[in-house]
Amino acid sequence: MKIITGISDMQSFADSLRSQGRTIGFVPTMGFLHDGHVSLMGRARQSCDIVMVSIFVNPTQFGPREDFSRYPRDEEGDRKKCEAAGVDVLFMPAVAEMYPEKPSVFVVVEGISDVLEGAIRPGHFRGVATVVAKLFSSVKPHKAFFGQKDFQQCAVIKGMVKGLNLDVEIVVMPIVREKDGLAMSSRNSYLNVDERRRAAVIYRALFAAKQLAAAGVREPEKLRNKIQAILAEEKGISIDYIEIVDPESLAPVNAVTENMVLLVAVHIGSTRLIDNLLIL
Ligand code: PAJ
Repeated sequence: MKIITGISDMQSFADSLRSQGRTIGFVPTMGFLHDGHVSLMGRARQSCDIVMVSIFVNPTQFGPREDFSRYPRDEEGDRKKCEAAGVDVLFMPAVAEMYPEKPSVFVVVEGISDVLEGAIRPGHFRGVATVVAKLFSSVKPHKAFFGQKDFQQCAVIKGMVKGLNLDVEIVVMPIVREKDGLAMSSRNSYLNVDERRRAAVIYRALFAAKQLAAAGVREPEKLRNKIQAILAEEKGISIDYIEIVDPESLAPVNAVTENMVLLVAVHIGSTRLIDNLLIL
């Protein structure tokens, strides 16, 4: 596995692969890798000649009071996981390489960046879209793989690709969960043993709402109430939002019809977790 840290080195390597007619599959990450990330690498391995993974904890997508400086890191473990997953190139730029000066150019996907996560984390999706655009222009992928875990992020990236006519295919992969249903996340490492046990309530709540919808309940309010009631069964969980939205526009729905998505964001202790489930 080749490790590249410079943007221009990355670009010339990508150019040489492209000139040989090889397809590049790309998995952008912030590291502290788990089986969710590995599932994206596996899909890239199946569908592309060359698999590139980036590890870059991107400062511009963290708010001033968020966890940038304490975001978990494990370079050695990550490298081993990438090697085991058959990754060809690990792109690990330093912050000073990606942002040599205070950034003045940003990618903003208006509208869908401003609701849900974006309403609570102002500027978050501007940071995400900007860094993903910079990573795309470094790695020059044919296909890029993202997880449904970050449902809104996928919508923002697709919006960016469409709006800027980027020549990259976006592939969205299902959420990989722990045995008790908790969606895998690097941030789960912040949970203590008791919080980790209680965190399983998030998936139980989403799943119960999905079952209500499958049984014919059409009022979004009833599904929301169900989720809220189940979350209340565990102590110390505070809710940022519970929303039922159209998967394309992310606008709240008036009636539960086909192909909606349930999204939740909660705090357990000092840890903020998000999850979602497609319904019907
Ligand atoms: P990170 O949180 O490291 O996630 C990298 C990719 O892994 C994202 O596409 C995310 O949706 C996916 N992923 C995370 N948990 C998953 C799970 N349980 N199942 C399936 N996929 C999962 O998302 C980011 O990094 C950053 O915002 C990034 C796109 C790299 C830009 O900085």
